[in-house]
Amino acid sequence: MALFCSSFCPRSAATLGRASLLLRLPSSSSARISKVLGADESSATLTVGFLGLGIMGSPMAQKPFKAGYNVTIWNRTKSKCHHILEYEPSPAEVAASCDVTFAMLADPQSAMLLVGRGTARGMAPGKGYVDASTVDAATSKLISKHIKDKGALFLEAPVSGSKKPAEDGQLIFLAAGDASLYETVGPLLDVMGKSKFYLGEVGNARR
Ligand SMILES: NC(=O)c1ccc[n+]([C@@H]2O[C@H](COP(=O)([O-])OP(=O)(O)OC[C@H]3O[C@@H](n4cnc5c(N)ncnc54)[C@H](OP(=O)(O)O)[C@@H]3O)[C@@H](O)[C@H]2O)c1
Repeated sequence: MALFCSSFCPRSAATLGRASLLLRLPSSSSARISKVLGADESSATLTVGFLGLGIMGSPMAQKPFKAGYNVTIWNRTKSKCHHILEYEPSPAEVAASCDVTFAMLADPQSAMLLVGRGTARGMAPGKGYVDASTVDAATSKLISKHIKDKGALFLEAPVSGSKKPAEDGQLIFLAAGDASLYETVGPLLDVMGKSKFYLGEVGNARR
């Protein structure tokens, strides 16, 4: 089990508790400990990226990690990442190194900015991008186009809830986009939220 990071933060270890103990174990030990932790078998293979570690993104990103997933993170302001250790140096590198990448950014401008300027470069066939930021339907369709032009899958998945539900894994996801990606990330949405709904084509979850 590995959280992809370049250095270790003691405060993070204290906060993450048992998950932090898995940090530098070899993969054979990780798999064994995943079972001890009761993590789903699929978590051993699906790698998860997370962009945007604000009020919502920070607790959301910790949920898959604590459930046994490999999680790679990036945030514009590096100092805000202290409680989840380190991040990759760019959104593109997160996307390139992960099977699925989640984004939880402030607004349509920042969500679009990241995809347009970098994240899309890390996308490729076989990968998926899940934008949980609150953006309008037109922006979501544009983001989807950037991702799908790279041959990857896209899902918009805005949340209902706030900081406390995010910390408690009690968010509600309204998702739309590629149904196969919805299926793939279903277990991830389940550790971050209490319920999820699939609404069809991109834009439908933004109305
Ligand atoms: N807070 C809530 O209760 C709540 C509830 C439901 C939905 N939402 C939605 O969830 C999303 C995130 O909300 P939040 O409360 O977590 O916001 P937040 O605490 O302000 O975090 C915003 C995130 O976006 C990043 N960001 C902003 N501008 C950026 C830029 N130009 N380039 C790169 N990164 C940028 C921030 O990076 P820095 O750390 O570097 O600033 C931060 O990681 C929003 O779309 C919001 O509408 C929030």
